[in-house]
Amino acid sequence: MDQARLRKALLGWYDRQARTLPWRTPPGSNSAPDPYFVWLSEVMLQQTTVPHATPYFLNFTGRWPTVGDLAEAPDADIMAAWAGLGYYARARNLLACARAVARDHGGIFPDTEEALRALPGIGTYTAAAIAAIAFQRPANVVDGNVERVMSRLFAVQTPLPAAKPELTRLADSLVANDRPGDWAQALMDLGATVCRPKGLLCDLCPLDHACAALADGNPQTYPRKSPKALRPRRYGVAYVLRRNGKTALMTRPTKGLLGGMLALPTSEWRAKPWTDAEAQSAAPAVLAWRDAGEIEHVFTHFALTLRVFVAEGNWNEAAWFSDLSGLPSVFLKAARKA
Ligand code: ADE
Repeated sequence: MDQARLRKALLGWYDRQARTLPWRTPPGSNSAPDPYFVWLSEVMLQQTTVPHATPYFLNFTGRWPTVGDLAEAPDADIMAAWAGLGYYARARNLLACARAVARDHGGIFPDTEEALRALPGIGTYTAAAIAAIAFQRPANVVDGNVERVMSRLFAVQTPLPAAKPELTRLADSLVANDRPGDWAQALMDLGATVCRPKGLLCDLCPLDHACAALADGNPQTYPRKSPKALRPRRYGVAYVLRRNGKTALMTRPTKGLLGGMLALPTSEWRAKPWTDAEAQSAAPAVLAWRDAGEIEHVFTHFALTLRVFVAEGNWNEAAWFSDLSGLPSVFLKAARKA
């Protein structure tokens, strides 16, 4: 493997093809991007795609232009603005991190991987990404895109997840002091737009000359994967209770799934479907509940089927909302069903 040729080919491609994204500076640019923008975008992008995350990024940076502004925001505002991005523990960590940067670092992000990793919610990946993109440090930035690119480039036969250490070593063998931020983002862009999970565009690939999987004629069969454990299914009932055009919501306990988020009241989520009688008796208040059908939602570790029950009436423990935009997607789906 000719490391210098490969790097030149990918960086040259990035110079021509880099996506224009609101947290980026253009390739080869002398001005470094704002570390706050890099951090925020990386946290958002860990769980979702660029098109889904971009409006959230613009909303956050419009409302809270600096990490100091974010640090001073009320928790509930951040949680509501995060709604729809999923993985709500990240939103709580986001606030904890902003407050640590404001309090312990005078509002300035530290510029080494080690110091970044000491901040709440910043793990190996995020620390490396910020160090490379915002501070031009030659960090090894390995996300799912980079793992996929490495698995194909080197035709790695070990299945995921066992292959991760090997893929990380291979990615590290290509990191150099020249343009670390562009290198990291070039690999990400290649993974997102050319070396895609499906629908590979090898004709457009700047690394086609070096790709072992392409030479074997089967790049789409990488990364190899261990047979997947089946995702279990759980069942629950969501209750949409309305009064004067408003909907009854509650705040979920801080610990656990969707912790601290606004929510519809629900039954317990369990392995067995709920009968009509069980659904009636698990309701938050005795009312004329009407069956509005079911919705499906897939979480990382299980799939959920929620029956949706609707009623008009009162419930003393509710807070009443007319704007449901702060609800996580699973509850928005249920509210729309009703
Ligand atoms: N995915 C994660 N971080 C990214 C970045 N900086 N640019 C593009 N896609 C990304």
